[in-house]
Amino acid sequence: MELIFATNNEYKLSEIRSLLGLSFSLRGLLELGVSEEIPEDHDTLEENASQKAWFIYDKYGKSCFADDTGLEVDALNGRPGVYSARYSRIGHPTFPEMEPAAGNIRKLLLELAGSSHRKAHFRTVIALVLDGTEYRFEGVVNGVITEKPSGAEGFGYDPVFRPEGFGETFAEMDLSMKNRISHRAKAVEGLIDFLKGM
Ligand code: IMP
Repeated sequence: MELIFATNNEYKLSEIRSLLGLSFSLRGLLELGVSEEIPEDHDTLEENASQKAWFIYDKYGKSCFADDTGLEVDALNGRPGVYSARYSRIGHPTFPEMEPAAGNIRKLLLELAGSSHRKAHFRTVIALVLDGTEYRFEGVVNGVITEKPSGAEGFGYDPVFRPEGFGETFAEMDLSMKNRISHRAKAVEGLIDFLKGM
């Protein structure tokens, strides 16, 4: 089955490709020849995932799924959540010179400085638009925000997120291990079960 994954993130594409296996031909936006920015301007992960999937379906007529992920930190009342990607640019003009992931991590550690309440979870929502009908899948992984970054694998907040039951951050883990337990893996599992059951 051919499916479009509405992303330009090569890391995510290869992560999900390895989870989907050979029975699916998964193409990203670059391969589809889409270079324009896909709108993503809502206040919830659900609405953003849905908006991106419908944008591609409406414009290119191809079945498509899109994801949106947020890091939801308990002590910050669920922030940065849907704003995870641009977190360091909200209200903190001191970080614009930093690479976004580094700025986000620095802001997060500053906001949690001195706090022992460090529980957080990643949450991924996938919206699939298949032949004009939308389906949604969710995946959550619980963990804690570490005191300092460790590890060089992965991306985004991986160096400061230690999943529950593990002694290392996502950035210290093998991709194959992260792929078994991550928020995105769980959401993709729901997507795959659904597609295989069709
Ligand atoms: P997006 O919805 O995948 O674009 O993710 C929103 C934000 O969450 C970005 O800043 C990403 O870096 C971060 N993020 C998404 N997935 C992960 C992950 O698996 N590990 C660490 N950060 C992530």
